[in-house]
Amino acid sequence: MGINYQRAGQFEETRFEKIHNVVFNSSKDGSIMVAYEIADLIREKQSKNENCVLGLATGSSPIKVYEELVRIHKEEDLSFSNVITFNLDEYYPMDKENIQSYHYFMHEHLFNHIDILPENINIPNGKIKAEDVYQYCLDYELKIKEAGGLDFQLLGIGRTGHIGFNEPGSHYNSGTRIITLDHITRVDAAPAFLGIENVPRKAITMGIATVRAAKRIVLLGWGEHKASILKGTIEGVISSEVPATYLQQHDNTTFVLDTEAASELTRNKTPWLVGSPKWTEELKNKAIVWLCEITKKTILSLTDKDYNDHGMSGLLAQEGSAYDLNISMFNKLQHTITGWPGGKPNADDTNRPERANPAKKRVIIFSPHPDDDVISMGGTFDRLVEQGHDVHVAYQTSGNIAVSDKEALKFAEIANTLGANDTKKILNDIQNKKENTVDTKDVRKLKGLIRRGESYAATRYIGLKDENVHFLDLPFYETGTIKKNKLSETDIEVMCNIIKEIQPHQIYAAGDLADPHGTHKVCLDALFEALKRLKNEPSMKDCWVWLYRGAWHEWDIHEIEMAVPMSPDQVLKKRHAIFYHQSQKDGVMFQGEDSREFWMRAEERNRGTAQKYNALGLADYAAMEAFVRYHF
Ligand code: F6R
Repeated sequence: MGINYQRAGQFEETRFEKIHNVVFNSSKDGSIMVAYEIADLIREKQSKNENCVLGLATGSSPIKVYEELVRIHKEEDLSFSNVITFNLDEYYPMDKENIQSYHYFMHEHLFNHIDILPENINIPNGKIKAEDVYQYCLDYELKIKEAGGLDFQLLGIGRTGHIGFNEPGSHYNSGTRIITLDHITRVDAAPAFLGIENVPRKAITMGIATVRAAKRIVLLGWGEHKASILKGTIEGVISSEVPATYLQQHDNTTFVLDTEAASELTRNKTPWLVGSPKWTEELKNKAIVWLCEITKKTILSLTDKDYNDHGMSGLLAQEGSAYDLNISMFNKLQHTITGWPGGKPNADDTNRPERANPAKKRVIIFSPHPDDDVISMGGTFDRLVEQGHDVHVAYQTSGNIAVSDKEALKFAEIANTLGANDTKKILNDIQNKKENTVDTKDVRKLKGLIRRGESYAATRYIGLKDENVHFLDLPFYETGTIKKNKLSETDIEVMCNIIKEIQPHQIYAAGDLADPHGTHKVCLDALFEALKRLKNEPSMKDCWVWLYRGAWHEWDIHEIEMAVPMSPDQVLKKRHAIFYHQSQKDGVMFQGEDSREFWMRAEERNRGTAQKYNALGLADYAAMEAFVRYHF
């Protein structure tokens, strides 16, 4: 089975799991492992004078594997001269030159940087005439067989459970063919194509049987957004509804996952159902919340029998009785609730999430895009201002790419009518923009200004002075496309400077790792790096960091360390603050599969958190915003 993953990653199969899988702390570590397995295979074949036939995937999952293979080629003399590749799929119709084509992707990420012979590269042709597609697919299959069959197949997995583009409904014995893409797959591809209407409806893909015939299969799964489909694939029943489950019947398949992607597996999600876990404080809290959900009981009404019946007898034995366990969990949750997110002056703060002193705190709310502040913590923001703290908002990116051309046109036309400078050119740029092209600098500037204007409107509504609003325009974001640059020294410096300038007692930041196009994660990385560098500054000794989550997810109840309740009036006020971000209303550009507007998602989520607290037996609030403390 190639490389010994057991030594490198965490591997521990359970009775629930039907596919061999290894979990790494990061996608980078996992990718390096996989790249070395491929490199070793290529070398082994070379030593026998044989070709090495690789089946390759595109998408975000394999990018780091390709990066590492290029590095091994350059620094460790790995030659690809004996390698023949077959790519899994290509959109249809699709020009090779189109930057969204898989042809372009493969050359950009791998082929242009290694010594593979061009004639050994096979990628389905997205331009084949409709009447020739059938024969073309048969020939593709034949070519794989003639090359000796796939020695190794690299896969990613789609949220529909597709491998290649074998969408739900695909047959176990399917071969290379043309298919219609599932709606979810098109939604996922929409940001890259700048809108779902630009995503092709069809693709040519290798079939399930083509993939199954590979001698070795490795599937890569990274990130929280893949966790649920990976659980279904690894633990579920084999069905055409989740085509990746067919891999359960392949005897040399390994799934290589990161911790987030593996988080829904039974052994991680509810380890007490798998064996006798070590009962850490965190696991204990998680298990009790879960037990309440399963039994539909409040914390204080759980019995010894409830614990015993649900795999938690070890915990019960360790802690004494349900009574003790219940009381301590109830108190713990009760202490997370506070209407004083900046601390309550002159109050005993032993059991409060925040310190009482200093009574007036300097606060920075970092907001990745110009609107996450009010969407994710509008109620808490409002309270902090109302309770007299010196609150600053720092918008990390300009958010310009999320303003539609139609929205920008409105403003350009008004400016033009007023006769403002430069607007003729901007107007012209928008009106003559070709599909799938990047905005000019001037248009991006206008779009950024629109978001600034909206942000001022919202922060003024909450009662903030304009001088407390900072637009950082981090450079990593300014590519004009969905693909951003890597963080640079300048990004980190900008973050360090604002923290040094304000010397905050509290920092709020988006700890939202499920952002579909990753900007939140990069913004968080920038903050963490800045904190690392500033750690020893005397002013930082007094600084506490609270993480909120963005529009997509909420913290699990057992993770929450501060829950700020909101009254019905505050819920309305938050809604109005979000409304000021008008360019992000009514069908935003990067909607994802959730068609609700941001204010609706925020309200439903905040109501949901309050209801969960209530279901556990705590007070009944209209809504709650939740935070987790980050210790740096
Ligand atoms: C790509 C392919 C797809 C992707 C899958 C996951 O060639 O066939 O099955 O592997 O859609 O995509 P990412 O990796 O972008 O999440």
